[in-house]
Amino acid sequence: MRPFLFRSRSVKRLFSASTTARRSKGEGDGATEENASSPRHADGSTLDKPPAKPNWRCFSYEEIRKATNGFHQDNLVGRGGYAEVYKGVMDDGQAIAVKRLTSASMEEQREKEFLTELGTIGHVHHPNVSSLLGCCIDRDLHLVFEFSSLGSVSSNLHDETSPPMDWKLRHKIAVGTARGLHYLHKECQRRIIHRDIKSSNILLTTNFEPQISDFGLAKWLPSDWSHCAVAPIEGTFGCLAPEYFMHGIVDEKTDVFAFGVFLLEIISGRKPVDGSHMSLLSWAKPHLNDGTMLVDPRLEDSYDLEQLERLTFIASLCVRAAAKWRPSMIEVLHLIEDGEILPDEWKVPDEEEEVEFWGFDDLDECDTPSSSSIGSPTQSFT
Ligand SMILES: Nc1ncnc2c1ncn2[C@@H]1O[C@H](COP(=O)(O)OP(=O)(O)O)[C@@H](O)[C@H]1O
Ligand SMILES: [Mg+2]
Repeated sequence: MRPFLFRSRSVKRLFSASTTARRSKGEGDGATEENASSPRHADGSTLDKPPAKPNWRCFSYEEIRKATNGFHQDNLVGRGGYAEVYKGVMDDGQAIAVKRLTSASMEEQREKEFLTELGTIGHVHHPNVSSLLGCCIDRDLHLVFEFSSLGSVSSNLHDETSPPMDWKLRHKIAVGTARGLHYLHKECQRRIIHRDIKSSNILLTTNFEPQISDFGLAKWLPSDWSHCAVAPIEGTFGCLAPEYFMHGIVDEKTDVFAFGVFLLEIISGRKPVDGSHMSLLSWAKPHLNDGTMLVDPRLEDSYDLEQLERLTFIASLCVRAAAKWRPSMIEVLHLIEDGEILPDEWKVPDEEEEVEFWGFDDLDECDTPSSSSIGSPTQSFT
């Protein structure tokens, strides 16, 4: 079998020992060169918590070829900006999703994308984050995940041939996604910023449990950096925080902003940017004080008013133009899970009143083709 020829040193190291056996040590930790150096303190010492063993394994090409019926078109379940995803069934009956990187960008960039996702998701374990089973580097670059049988939130929410997604489910998705994001930001070994939170990157398990997926743009942030700056800017228009879009500044609040747009999408059933060229944010802005104006008309009266007001209030905080006035995900969780809603506590002081609101009227939704040319996180930090 022809193995993929890696260019970067860290990848060669990662796969040199064995490409077929289940990895028994944590040496694959920090798969990208960028990530391999980032989880250290400024003085060079390593993080407090030792990395846990990754529990993914290398699959052979034959295994995934057989499982996906030779990557048959009938097995193609999704196509994003970077990959084709095929459903497969292993010999033992386990359903898998094989993500084959298709980015037309340079080989080296594709490697980086692959390693970013592998190096990030290979170390996270949470019910609201999708589970990596392994990878295959024969012929091409493949990541293997547990199969999410119900597809993405986007495909369910915007499927015009099915009845509208009911309110209870929308609420469950909002809560689960908030838990997953809080875990990535604060509870897992490293601070992970996802950078591409949106409904097509949130998958649903058979119990409609949301799982954050697609870590191709994710960044690790050292604990003593307030943020990092990246270039070029990548992600999805309509979901990008202003400081990120304009200056490439990335921190947890980048994801908080995108989560706010995601909440508006769940509430309203509208896409972040649709064919009308009016962004969801611009449309929602005048109604952020009144959830009943935002709620998906297809739901008619079938929603919980208290939950609607709560989610609308949280969304209004998350999409604030100034990052410092957005809540953290732990604050979002507190508000979402019955915390007292005290608008005065969240009031922006008059002298800092936000004058401009971030809109995307003239932008189309699009995924930029590659994550590979992200600048090193050492470019800028405080
Ligand atoms: N584990 C999975 N189970 C089921 N469908 C999946 C899975 N992973 C991805 N998909 C489908 O494939 C689409 C693209 O996958 P994604 O990882 O977002 O790729 P990209 O990096 O190209 O955006 C998703 O929106 C979803 O519909
Ligand atoms: Mg995606």
